[in-house]
Amino acid sequence: MGSEPVHAGFERWAVFAKIRAADRMHHRAVGRALEKLLIAGFGRPPRILDVGCGDARDIAAILKRCTVAEYTGIDNSSVALECACGRLAGGAFPRRLIHGDYAEALATLAPAFDLIWLGLFLHHLSSEQKRELFRRTMGLLAEDGSLFVHDPVLLETEDREGFLGRIGREALGWPELTAEERDMLGRHWSQHGRQERISRLEEMAILAGFSEAQVQWRDPLELYALLAFGRRSRPSEILKTV
Ligand SMILES: C[S@@+](CC[C@H](N)C(=O)[O-])C[C@H]1O[C@@H](n2cnc3c(N)ncnc32)[C@H](O)[C@@H]1O
Repeated sequence: MGSEPVHAGFERWAVFAKIRAADRMHHRAVGRALEKLLIAGFGRPPRILDVGCGDARDIAAILKRCTVAEYTGIDNSSVALECACGRLAGGAFPRRLIHGDYAEALATLAPAFDLIWLGLFLHHLSSEQKRELFRRTMGLLAEDGSLFVHDPVLLETEDREGFLGRIGREALGWPELTAEERDMLGRHWSQHGRQERISRLEEMAILAGFSEAQVQWRDPLELYALLAFGRRSRPSEILKTV
């Protein structure tokens, strides 16, 4: 994995919590898509890997309503993982929370996961790290498993500056933030975000052996997407059900 550090955590978790509570990053819609997928079933209770799981707020509630074989979450924030542990408690499935850098943690895991989830994580990585993460996740997936990516994405016609302008203008209408918090968020997006076009992510995924991206969901402003990738050699039937 590239030596460059990943700064995916917000400087102030509280700001992330505020915009998430207002559903600015569309966790609800994406969560509904995930739940539909889990209910449709994988032919067996799925093993789930969640990279950069944070406090598992949304996924914990969904998993408790579904039948799953196992949940593994990875995050380098001990505070977030403590919250995740509390949220997952009471779930009728084995769970494992790994505290540490995602690259090191992935190297310790054994295949095969049915569903690998990257929630607002991928855009924090450099291109090299993204390519490597696609390769690593391919190696950890079951034959008919799928990788899901919920992330901010550029329009095919725009560059990163255009995207940052668009999302920055949108954030001006978010009353839950103070002006200072909005500035902090803008800095965070521009310093730590490496958002890509869907076509670029698809190229990286295909190089790692995945199929073309299946766009499972977009928000009306097309700032975010939920993308699914199955193995090229064995397209996943389950993706058609979402
Ligand atoms: C934007 S949050 C997303 C949390 C959650 N997946 C969601 O969708 O709401 C990104 C998460 O990645 C974690 N993270 C950042 N860098 C990491 C790294 N190098 N290894 C593991 N986790 C990391 C952060 O602690 C944070 O919880």
